[in-house]
Amino acid sequence: MNVANVARPGLRPIRALPGRQGVEVIDQRALPHALRFETLASVEAVATAIREMWVRGAPLIGAAAAYGVALQATQDARDEALHAAGARLQASRPTAVNLAWAVQRMQRVLRATPLHERAQAAWDEADAIAEEDLRVNHALGEHGLGLLRAVAARKKDPVNVLTHCNAGWLATVGWGTATSALYQAHAAGIAVHVWVDETRPRNQGAGLTAWELGQAGVPHTVIADNAGGHLMQRGKVDLCIVGCDRVAANGDVCNKIGTYLKALAAHDCGVPFFVAMPASTLDLQLADGQRIPIEERDGRELTHVAGRSAPGEVLEVQLTPDGTAVANPAFDVTPARLVTGLITERGIVAAEPHALRRLMEERS
Ligand code: MRU
Repeated sequence: MNVANVARPGLRPIRALPGRQGVEVIDQRALPHALRFETLASVEAVATAIREMWVRGAPLIGAAAAYGVALQATQDARDEALHAAGARLQASRPTAVNLAWAVQRMQRVLRATPLHERAQAAWDEADAIAEEDLRVNHALGEHGLGLLRAVAARKKDPVNVLTHCNAGWLATVGWGTATSALYQAHAAGIAVHVWVDETRPRNQGAGLTAWELGQAGVPHTVIADNAGGHLMQRGKVDLCIVGCDRVAANGDVCNKIGTYLKALAAHDCGVPFFVAMPASTLDLQLADGQRIPIEERDGRELTHVAGRSAPGEVLEVQLTPDGTAVANPAFDVTPARLVTGLITERGIVAAEPHALRRLMEERS
């Protein structure tokens, strides 16, 4: 099975450079106006790229953190140095659990490896995490594809899917989580149309998902975040598929701010609401979603907006009056009762504790 990223050949949001002296990433702050690559050559550079969102999306920041540990192991692989690097990486963003998952996996492997073999082992393990992410996302997309096929079988028009934020290949090592089924359906000749939102605070739907889907030729329409409920009331959404940053043991789902409102509208309108969840995003240590730390981001994301001017210059402009107070929580929690199902690499499971525990037992 070919699970190479859906993006054009060779284009990946992260890759180890030959000689393993650094990691090349797409600087996502420049999209959709420019496709810019940067090289990260130290654990500090990786932590900065995660914090400032050159790389973002739960699975991708997990993979980036793994390469950060590998860069540290190349310089100094002693226990204290690895511990400090792990702590630094984990502190770079608080909400997505994949970050801690990847750092802890790297540390487990390296603790069991003799000092002189650690650098090699670290790069091998980081590569393994990245390749696994590709396979997992492809597999969960195959399960999501079944849902799209079922809708397509009962209607003539395209299957209308609403997705929130960017849970696409840019947010992972490849395929994306929420988008994997969309790409696979499109490739299989199933007519899909995607309603794309997250138009504030960071415009990741408008800037990243629209760019990705456009590159792949998947029909899509950008909507204001506030339009989703209206479209659902009018029967224009067959199902919602979103990504996630952390899922608690009871099935509560934390994802980009605004996801909860989409789930409420979907529930009210009888629209199925699915969450694409690789097992690495499940946190069985947390009983419920209210305990998930919610990142509070810089208010400038609300007071200002960046875009390309007519002459082609990327500019930032201020929207709000000088000195306005702003609050900018970056994530919210959708209660499990609003989630129709979790699309995982092992199949679609209910957002409830027993199903999630079984999923993890099968995995180990
Ligand atoms: O703040 P971000 O851009 O890192 O958050 C992205 C999201 O919320 C995504 O929906 C989530 O990480 C799923 S990624 C496949």
